[in-house]
Amino acid sequence: MPAPPRAPATRRVQLLPDAVADQIAAGEVVERPASVVKELVENSLDAGARHVRVEIENGGKTSIGVSDDGAGMGRDDAVLALDRHATSKLHVLADLVGIATFGFRGEALPAIASVSRFTLQTADEAGEGTEIGVTGGRVERVAPCARQRGTTVHVRGLFFNVPARRKFLRSASSETRACHDAMVTLALAHPEAGFEFHADQVCRFQVPAGQTLSERLRALWGRELSDTLLPLAFAAGAFRLSGFVQRPADARPTGRRTQLFVNGRPFRDAFLVRAAEAGYRSAIAPGDRPSMLLRLEVQPGEVDVNVHPAKLEVRFRDRIGLERTVEDAVRHALGGLEASAALGAGPAAEFPRPMAEPAAEAIDLFAADEGGHAAPPALAGDPLAGVPLMQVFDTYIVYPAEQGVVIVDQHSAHERVLFETAMRELTGQGSAAQRLLMPETVDLTDEERDAVEAHGEQLSRVGFEVEAFGGRSVVVHAVPSPRARFDALACFRELVADLARGRFGGWANRLERFAATYACRAAVKAGDRLSEREMRELLARLFTCELPPHDVHGRSTIVQLPLEELERRFGRR
Ligand SMILES: Nc1ncnc2c1ncn2[C@@H]1O[C@H](COP(=O)(O)OP(=O)(O)OP(=O)(O)O)[C@@H](O)[C@H]1O
Ligand SMILES: [Mg+2]
Repeated sequence: MPAPPRAPATRRVQLLPDAVADQIAAGEVVERPASVVKELVENSLDAGARHVRVEIENGGKTSIGVSDDGAGMGRDDAVLALDRHATSKLHVLADLVGIATFGFRGEALPAIASVSRFTLQTADEAGEGTEIGVTGGRVERVAPCARQRGTTVHVRGLFFNVPARRKFLRSASSETRACHDAMVTLALAHPEAGFEFHADQVCRFQVPAGQTLSERLRALWGRELSDTLLPLAFAAGAFRLSGFVQRPADARPTGRRTQLFVNGRPFRDAFLVRAAEAGYRSAIAPGDRPSMLLRLEVQPGEVDVNVHPAKLEVRFRDRIGLERTVEDAVRHALGGLEASAALGAGPAAEFPRPMAEPAAEAIDLFAADEGGHAAPPALAGDPLAGVPLMQVFDTYIVYPAEQGVVIVDQHSAHERVLFETAMRELTGQGSAAQRLLMPETVDLTDEERDAVEAHGEQLSRVGFEVEAFGGRSVVVHAVPSPRARFDALACFRELVADLARGRFGGWANRLERFAATYACRAAVKAGDRLSEREMRELLARLFTCELPPHDVHGRSTIVQLPLEELERRFGRR
């Protein structure tokens, strides 16, 4: 073993000069122009600005300017603000719990000033303005200046004195994009404030003060995407959630947007996004990635915001509880009938509630044909009693509702109903099957035989009683009866073929995969003529489902033609 090196006689531990300490801090706080934009705009919002204007040049590498009409600073405060750990927002550590401002460290301004040519102009309501010039962390000028209440910061030549970092900056267009994204996030965090973003003298966006969140979303995420979003509002335990989630049928595998806020503060958290996606279970095609904006309100002690140098991440005390709440909240938002798709302009109407008053007497849901399937949750009265129903193209059920015309895809709707029924059977008691008078022998391929064996338990729970019968054949003794005129054996063959081929392969949960395959095969098909009674029963059962508006492939079961759209088309409004 070599001897440890001897400590030299001279002292090796030394305090870093302030300028070096600031540059090191800058490395954590300021990574690229977008971080400067973020820190400066956050300061403006903390100062109560009603309007924030940001201009960048060359992706922010040449210059970044941020002006606000916030509270501004007096001369002494302005000088002090450039000192490390000078902050007006936090006095004792306990203040950090529940802090409502973006800033609390007193690091951003000195960090930025230490790696740029920095000027600050500011005036508070007392009047006289102050201008301060700093180069690479050295204060070079403090002078009076004329300006209205508010603050303007200019950052030129970012990292001019740290060539190693400057080298790591990306192209102007990708730095511009990062600044743009940072601005969008802050503008969504504060819809009540107005924002302007200019890059290379071109206005990239401008949003007025006093907007609602959905107006702001429309302006920043675009009308097309915004029209596919459903409102979300949910509370459980220590958590309250609000925001928007995308309708499953409109989600795509690429190009989604996600935005999370906790107590008004933007943060990133892939696990929470995944928890939200879990709420889409059985309503979305595998691989589709829904857009979402979620605002969490939590008790101050529930979240620690001081765990990431650029405050991009936070830590939650009850992570599991939060993830569960997020999943439940999304499911709740998707389950409402207002989650159904609309034809034409604008978001879907409230709810495709039928025109007539609900009748008082209970109805007999599928009782005769049910073969003992688990009863759906009790329904007080038939919401469609007295409402005329029409089947068109032997495929869609159409009826008038308060808000417009409702169109239901009979196959998708029945698929949703059977999926939820099958899940109850698979995880609960199972279903009473209908014994066949004459057991049927079915010949299968090797793969199908294996599939029957692998899914024997599930098959029997939904009502198929199957027995092996030498070689590739099986004998079917009993079958489910999910509807009138159900061809159980045809369904069995299709189901087993699907299982052998691994249909719904993208689904993670084995029981759900089985239930979806069964539902798809057992449901009425497009082209099946339905009696009026069958239509009524199908709709009544659909409306007692957990997620009525979505089928198991990520498509809509219900489409509305809003009255408003009709009136618009016919020039009545
Ligand atoms: N645009 C502004 N308007 C008014 N006061 C400002 C503005 N920008 C900064 N200040 C003042 O300067 C102080 C220092 O700002 P700085 O961003 O360095 O720290 P902070 O915001 O307190 O904390 P953090 O480092 O977490 O951002 C702030 O606490 C605030 O009092
Ligand atoms: Mg700050």
